[in-house]
Amino acid sequence: KVSPSAAPERLPFCRVTEEDLAFFRKILPGRTIVDPDLVEPSNVDWLKSVRGSSEVLLRPQTTEEVSQILSYCNSRNLAVNPQGGNTGLVGGSVPVYDEIILSTSLMNKILNFDSISGVLTCQAGCVLENLSFYLEERDYIMPLDLGAKGSCQIGGNVATNAGGLRLLRYGSLHGTVLGLELVLADGQVLDCLSTLRKDNTGYDLKQLFIGSEGTLGVITAVSILCPRKPKSVNVVFLGCETFEQLLKTFQLCKGMLGEILSAFEFLDSECMRLLNTHLKLPNPISDCPFYIVIETSGSDPTHDAQKLHNFLEDAMTSSLVSDGTVATEEAKIKALWSLRERVTEALTHDGFTYKYDISLPVERIYQLVTDMRKHLGNQAKSVVGYGHVGDGNLHLNVTSPSKDPALLAAIEPFVYEWTASCRGSISAEHGLGLKKRNYIYYSKQSQAVALMGNIKAMLDPKGILNPYKTLPDNLKQ
Ligand code: FAD
Ligand code: MLT
Ligand code: ZN
Repeated sequence: KVSPSAAPERLPFCRVTEEDLAFFRKILPGRTIVDPDLVEPSNVDWLKSVRGSSEVLLRPQTTEEVSQILSYCNSRNLAVNPQGGNTGLVGGSVPVYDEIILSTSLMNKILNFDSISGVLTCQAGCVLENLSFYLEERDYIMPLDLGAKGSCQIGGNVATNAGGLRLLRYGSLHGTVLGLELVLADGQVLDCLSTLRKDNTGYDLKQLFIGSEGTLGVITAVSILCPRKPKSVNVVFLGCETFEQLLKTFQLCKGMLGEILSAFEFLDSECMRLLNTHLKLPNPISDCPFYIVIETSGSDPTHDAQKLHNFLEDAMTSSLVSDGTVATEEAKIKALWSLRERVTEALTHDGFTYKYDISLPVERIYQLVTDMRKHLGNQAKSVVGYGHVGDGNLHLNVTSPSKDPALLAAIEPFVYEWTASCRGSISAEHGLGLKKRNYIYYSKQSQAVALMGNIKAMLDPKGILNPYKTLPDNLKQ
């Protein structure tokens, strides 16, 4: 019996020849990389959990160059792995075999910013944090924020439909992305780079590419609607004794903070232990089983402070929270956010990490962590829960001293069956990539998956774009 997470067989793509390299060198002089030491970092994912064996890294600067690359690769039947910041967590961003890596890192130009509408248009390789810095100088912010901001690129964010820490307030990229420019597998440039908020002229094609993980086209430019920079930001770090109290705090918070609430995140005491042990980050409050990070963003500091004060008073007097600290100045805000954002990094120091990114009805999210702990007994080193409570999105992570197939067999398919029994999603925001592709049926009906296969076949008939990713193996063979 073949395990659904086993490596797929190499498909019959051609191998890169000297003639191919001569073509690439002609269109990308100095940007056709074949030195194995320089290609190596692009062959390995951020988690160091999957490794490809590509020998060619291409670094285009323009849409025209991407078009020439894909047109050539399609005619030669050469497979291509689009890559942004390589921070993806499901093995989608690196080759499986010898796919050519097409990196967008040099496509990092801001094309336009309209300070009236707040619409930013830029190339796909712009690093998220650089876009944030650019906008902050102009009194705007990006509508998304995530722990990987220093490396991930907007094209990669769109390709994974990244959620992150602000989705609760500003919604998903399906709403904030107004336009995309794409290069299809055969090299055709598809200009859907609208900057309009409203446009019902036919099917909204760009939506198909948001979250398509490099399997339908290469995103070369993005236009995105950005919110004004809030005049007042507060961050609160709270401790709760039970998850039920945490949920009640969430309800209270939505009611009392309403329009200024911009994030409601959580981590459990196991995460705090890993932050203390591996990153030496101290707990700013007393030890509790659960911690909450609440952020408010508003336009009137006095009004926001008053609302926050009332909320905290209610939460404390009704004993929903047992301890807490508030930050209004930037350095402390950053320090409190690190406790949530750096859990991912702390886990990598704990051991090999099995990551699960699950959407569930919010009242069920922590039950999965508790059940997994019971189910695994002492087989795992750590079983931790954190995530985006406001979005009903749990990050369940299990570590072991090294890769452990027996542990993996105990986690999967248990975790997927549990999730499917609540009609949850087995990938809330990270995508399916290589690791989760064969589990798609736990969250999607087979007719829907078949339709996805038809769309893939129509847009990329030779299957050269990011093969072995997103769609299950049984569709492709
Ligand atoms: P890559 O990792 O390079 O690629 C990801 C996928 O997109 C691959 O399938 C790749 O082929 C494809 N791709 C990349 N660029 C393009 C392009 N231009 N055109 C077509 N396809 C492309 N994700 C969340 O949703 N929320 C989080 O809060 C979050 N936090 C994270 C925190 C950390 C510390 C880390 C390491 C990762 C986190 N992620 C999170 C996961 C990750 O999905 C995001 O970091 C990000 O969206 C990936 O962008 P990237 O540029 O690194 O893309
Ligand atoms: C997060 O919310 O921290 C990210 O999605 C990364 C992770 O799941 O570890
Ligand atoms: Zn997340």
